[in-house]
Amino acid sequence: MNRGQPAIQGYQAGRSRERSRDPHLHRYAQRAAGMTASEIRALFAVASRPEVVSLAGGMPYLPALPMDSLADDMASLVAQDGMTALQYGSAQGIPELREQICEVMALEGVCAHPDDVTVTVGSQSALDLVTRIFCDPGDVVLAEAPSYVGALGSFTAYQAQVVHVPMDDGGLVPDALHDALRRLAEQGRTPKFLYTIPNFHNPAGVTLTVSRRSEVLEICAAHGVLVIEDNPYGLLGFDGQTYPALRASDPDNVVYLGSFSKTFAPGLRVGWALAPHAVREKLVLAAESATLCPPTFTQAVVSRYLAGHDWKSQVKTYQEAYRDRRDAMISALEQQLPSGCRWTRPDGGFFVWLSVPAGLDTKAMLPRAVTQRVAYVPGTAFYADQAGSRQIRLSFCYPPPDRIKEGVRRLAGVLEGELELLATFGSVSPRTVAGPQSPSPDTA
Ligand SMILES: Cc1ncc(COP(=O)(O)O)c(C=O)c1O
Repeated sequence: MNRGQPAIQGYQAGRSRERSRDPHLHRYAQRAAGMTASEIRALFAVASRPEVVSLAGGMPYLPALPMDSLADDMASLVAQDGMTALQYGSAQGIPELREQICEVMALEGVCAHPDDVTVTVGSQSALDLVTRIFCDPGDVVLAEAPSYVGALGSFTAYQAQVVHVPMDDGGLVPDALHDALRRLAEQGRTPKFLYTIPNFHNPAGVTLTVSRRSEVLEICAAHGVLVIEDNPYGLLGFDGQTYPALRASDPDNVVYLGSFSKTFAPGLRVGWALAPHAVREKLVLAAESATLCPPTFTQAVVSRYLAGHDWKSQVKTYQEAYRDRRDAMISALEQQLPSGCRWTRPDGGFFVWLSVPAGLDTKAMLPRAVTQRVAYVPGTAFYADQAGSRQIRLSFCYPPPDRIKEGVRRLAGVLEGELELLATFGSVSPRTVAGPQSPSPDTA
């Protein structure tokens, strides 16, 4: 008896009823038309059931945090400092935290002044603000192929056109960046910026080599293209290794985005942007109109945590937990997956990027995978141009190693079944098309 299928159909029917009933449809601004909820969101409601192994969501492994002492800290923050911690604050963020953020970035070679840091509501809101201040409808932005779903969501929301630049195991390919810029120049177009995730990429799991970093910066500078460096995973190298931030070499042409979501806790929603001075002024004005100020309370929590805890040991604990999970996933992939599959081998971060044999469609396959009690994010979610139908993002950050192994075992079974269908009928199911979708905790 197939228990997952009726539930999936129920969710899908419910969603299409909801859409067709919207009495405000004619009122939305044009930019809202590009804001589409992921079709796979409904499936994730099913996928969050305990019997499903979810290799989909990029949720940090919070059980690694010292919850009791954090609870004590928060209680004493309210008792001792509640009048400020629960009050409105500055749009740029609290000064102590901005100083501490500069110390955090110094670990990756960044020399910054707290005046140039803007605290944001997670780095997702920094992405929104950066796009808001730079992009008019129709502007081009460059992004790796594939790219972070939340960034694609922001670019789409501001009606920017995404041009993807290929990556390989060494990250963004400088020659491909050069070619993309040349092609755009031939059309008389200059991208507003290059959006890149140099370290432990989401979703690709690869890292930009050190030698390519200067090449990428030189190419962008030569073409007058700003670089947005998104670096939420930089301190999560499994051997404690860090890479020099792009911002460290070119402070005038790089906006650096950071976050405490992966090194501490995403629910606090504390991230930041480090920007050249003039850009910082615009960012603060845009932030003010979006949120007035970032949450004072959670900024104070982060600031106390950085000052009063051995936070670097906590990052090491995370690194070790994620390394064990990465090892479990890679060895399960090696043992279980059918031939013709390829995957990346991340040395940090949360994700493995899997390519399946030609003829399979990972988005069409997802309902069958969920029925077999395993979930993943299909590759199409990470492209603005309908590519990615043979790719899958697998997250190893949250489930314990034995669940990861079980999830890969189930996935292997689904892939074997699809390959058998392909061999018998010559096709598995009609190709599905997906554009960029709004991020959700399942796809982030
Ligand atoms: C590459 C990348 N950038 C930004 C974010 C957003 O993180 P935050 O929680 O700081 O908003 C994520 C979250 O998954 C991410 O993977």
